[in-house]
Amino acid sequence: MPTVQELAQRISLISESSTMKVAAEADRLRREKVDVVDFSAGEPDFPTPENIKNAAIEALHQNFTKYTPVSGTVELKQAICDHHKNLYGTAYSLKECIANMGGKHAIFNLTQALIDPGDEVIIPVPYWVTFKDVVNYAGGKCVFAETDEQEGFTLKASTVERCTTSKTKMIILNSPSNPSGAVFDRAELEKIFRMCKDRGIWILADECYERFLYNSEPFSLASLPDAKETVVVAGSLSKTYAMTGWRMGFVLGPAAVVAGINKLQSHATSNPNSITQKAAIEALRGPQDSVAAMLGEYRKRREYVLGRLAKMPGVKTQTPQGAFYAYPNVSSAFRNGISNSLQFAEKLLAEKAVALVPGEAFGTDDHVRISYATSMKELERGLDRIEQFIAARA
Ligand SMILES: Cc1ncc(COP(=O)(O)O)c(C=O)c1O
Repeated sequence: MPTVQELAQRISLISESSTMKVAAEADRLRREKVDVVDFSAGEPDFPTPENIKNAAIEALHQNFTKYTPVSGTVELKQAICDHHKNLYGTAYSLKECIANMGGKHAIFNLTQALIDPGDEVIIPVPYWVTFKDVVNYAGGKCVFAETDEQEGFTLKASTVERCTTSKTKMIILNSPSNPSGAVFDRAELEKIFRMCKDRGIWILADECYERFLYNSEPFSLASLPDAKETVVVAGSLSKTYAMTGWRMGFVLGPAAVVAGINKLQSHATSNPNSITQKAAIEALRGPQDSVAAMLGEYRKRREYVLGRLAKMPGVKTQTPQGAFYAYPNVSSAFRNGISNSLQFAEKLLAEKAVALVPGEAFGTDDHVRISYATSMKELERGLDRIEQFIAARA
């Protein structure tokens, strides 16, 4: 009998989210009274809009505090389907929709439901950290599709084609992208869609940042003809409605996939929080002006951040076309004890108390991710410090 109980082998397939790790370290320093500027958090600094909060308060007053169906109430699922239809002209029915505890949970459920050990999953680089881990956890094999930094990290159908083998089961597309802010070209997406359809490859469309676009209109792969057989959508209310803590996401896809996820969810979590469900209905059906207001603010901050980064010697930044992250190439500052993005981030935090996420976490080691979902004042303070840090290494 071993004296120490071993963890299940599958836990060794994943590592703790690096973005969460940086945030935890920044939090630790803050508790030690260090004046930290935190650019690591991928979450809106705006409060949840009042109408959404009021819907939750109302839910409490109505004692809407009990179990609901595992997949969410009919009212909520209808609101999700209608919302997607209004934005993209899709036609999902209640059986093709399930509410989850955030977009992350939606993606986890989808990979668990669709990936078998040995299946290959194409993931464009740079990628959101979680994609890699959830595929690994399902026993899948990640196949990384390179993008060209000079072209703003957009994905080419020809690259996807080169990554495809007889074992390819899925491709994960996240446009606008975290961390690069890239918005994939519509014509390339259509080519990828056709290729996947011909070869029976799932497309997991992560639409987390769908509404935060600076130069284009929201587009869903699910709106293409006959997309239902190929495309599964992972949606999230977290960023769009500044609801990160509420935990509400959803899956739209074929009824059989949704039924599979429903089985999994029925044993893992049961329904999403009942109060959050009521708030989510208000978010989806209520006034949408807060979304435009937030986008307006992000646009101003984006201009400011890009302007400041452009003045830093050697730093090169592609213009993010969506989401709220800048992803500068800082490799010219890799000297004097810094030779990669992790060391850059660690030294910046130690010397200047600025927290950001090293590109290593996203699959490119020359970059760091700066979230500008934070106030202008914090951006000014943090960028002043980064400027000094870089100038000292110029
Ligand atoms: C690309 C991407 N997808 C999905 C999510 C999921 O967010 P949530 O689980 O809060 O809905 C995030 C959050 O950071 C993200 O960046």
